[in-house]
Order: sequence, then structure tokens, then C-alpha cells
Amino acid sequence: MSLEAKDLYVKVEDKEVLSWVNVRFELGKNYTILGKNGSGKSSFAYALMWHPKYEITKWDILLDGESLLDLSPDERAKKWIFLAFQNIPEIPGVKLFEFLRTVYNSWKGTNETFLSFKKIIEPLLQELDIPKEFLWRDLNVGFSGWERRKIEILQLKLLNPKYIILDEVDSGLDVDAFKQVANLLQSLDSDQNTFVIITHYFTILDYIAVDRVYVFEDGKVAKEGAKELADQIRNQGFKVLS
Ligand SMILES: Nc1ncnc2c1ncn2[C@@H]1O[C@H](COP(=O)(O)OP(=O)(O)OP(=O)(O)O)[C@@H](O)[C@H]1O
Ligand SMILES: [Mg+2]
Repeated sequence: MSLEAKDLYVKVEDKEVLSWVNVRFELGKNYTILGKNGSGKSSFAYALMWHPKYEITKWDILLDGESLLDLSPDERAKKWIFLAFQNIPEIPGVKLFEFLRTVYNSWKGTNETFLSFKKIIEPLLQELDIPKEFLWRDLNVGFSGWERRKIEILQLKLLNPKYIILDEVDSGLDVDAFKQVANLLQSLDSDQNTFVIITHYFTILDYIAVDRVYVFEDGKVAKEGAKELADQIRNQGFKVLS
């Protein structure tokens, strides 16, 4: 099983931000996407999540060999891809509980009620040491960076997605919070899922071992290689591209 972007071209606000991107993520393996600021990593993640601003102008995205381009956004969203955003959106007026219940029902095709969903979510809150009161706060409004990451990990535990894109989830955390996030993510890593880690700080890769490295430059995959390529860039910077 795999998630594959084939000859992908993406435009945002009339500007081509990705061109001729070819990547293949096999289920059960892990990947990292590295690249300088502005090289197109987040745009790639948004495009894979069908963000309306990021228009896929050419070619195809395949899940287990099946094209996703003809599906509606709703149908695509059920295809088990999860993106942890670099910048987490705040949604005033939507309670975390209702957000989670809606997403859960949509993903799983269930119809959990207020009471039945409480029974599903409360043990997970306890496991992650998240205060129950958070459920009744507006989504991400006023949450600290650490609390927001924990809520994302809560979603990972709840939804159990197959393909998980982490866009700089290691930024903005203190040293202890980072370790906790990294340990939690490590505990979720299995041969039934795939992490795609976008990072500028390589420490996260000490927790989640990657099988393959993609390096983006100017909206293209400039280099691709085994995990040693990440070590090389960690030590020498992006001059290894030239
Ligand atoms: N919503 C947008 N509107 C206009 N331009 C955008 C938008 N999103 C991305 N771009 C442009 O696309 C290019 C790639 O940006 P992107 O955020 O994908 O880079 P990145 O590799 O994630 O960078 P960083 O490492 O700093 O997060 C940049 O030139 C950026 O200005
Ligand atoms: Mg980015």
C-alpha cells in the first residue's frame, strides 16, 4: 500500500510553487522532507490535504494505486491522510469536543452521540494527561504550542490515520515538551502507518527512524536518498545539494 504523488504541479495565488514533484510513501515506512525555507515543503503538505488555496494543476495523487483527483474533498478526507500543520489554525466558536466528534464521525462513518463520544474521548484525554476542560474550549484558541501539539496527538490516537504528515511539529517547543511530543509520536509509529516528517531540527529523526529522504529546492525534489542523506545535511547543511 502506498501514497504516491506523480509529476505534481501546484499553484497558489497564480504562482507555481511546486513543479514536477514525484514522491512515493509506502505504508509502514517513514520519510522526511528536508529543504531550505520557502522550498515548497508546506505547500506540498497542503496540496496533499486538498487545501483549496493550493491548486493541483497537473498530474495525479494515487492512494494504493487509485487516483484521488476525481473524488470530492469529503471523500478524499476519508482517505486517512492526516496533516499536523506548521501553523495550527484557531477556530473560534467551535468547541474542541464538537470538532473531534465531527471529525471522528466523518472519518469512521459512525454516528457517535454526545454521550457515546464522551466515552471514546475521555480515556484518551486521561492517557495523554489532557485536562477534560479543554474539550469545552474553542478550538486551539488560547492554547499554548505544547497544548496544541498534544491535541494533535489526541487526534492521531483517535483517528489512527495511515499517512501522517508532520510539518515542523518540533518547532516552538521547550526541551521537555519536545521530548514528550517525540516520545508520544514514537509510541504511535508502527508498520500500519507512515510518518512524513518535515523538519529543520533533526532531533525528531532520532525518535522516528526514516527510511527515505526527500530534499526540496525551489518547488522541486532536488535530491532523494537513504537516511544517510539526512545525516549528511544535518552535518554539512544544504551545500550537499550542489
Ligand atoms: N498561501 C500562499 N500565498 C502565497 N504564496 C505562498 C503561499 N503558500 C506558499 N507560498 C509561496 O510558496 C513558496 C514555498 O513556501 P512553503 O511555505 O511551501 O515553503 P516551506 O519549504 O514550507 O518553507 P519553511 O521551511 O519556511 O516552512 C514560497 O515562496 C511562499 O511564499
Ligand atoms: Mg513550511
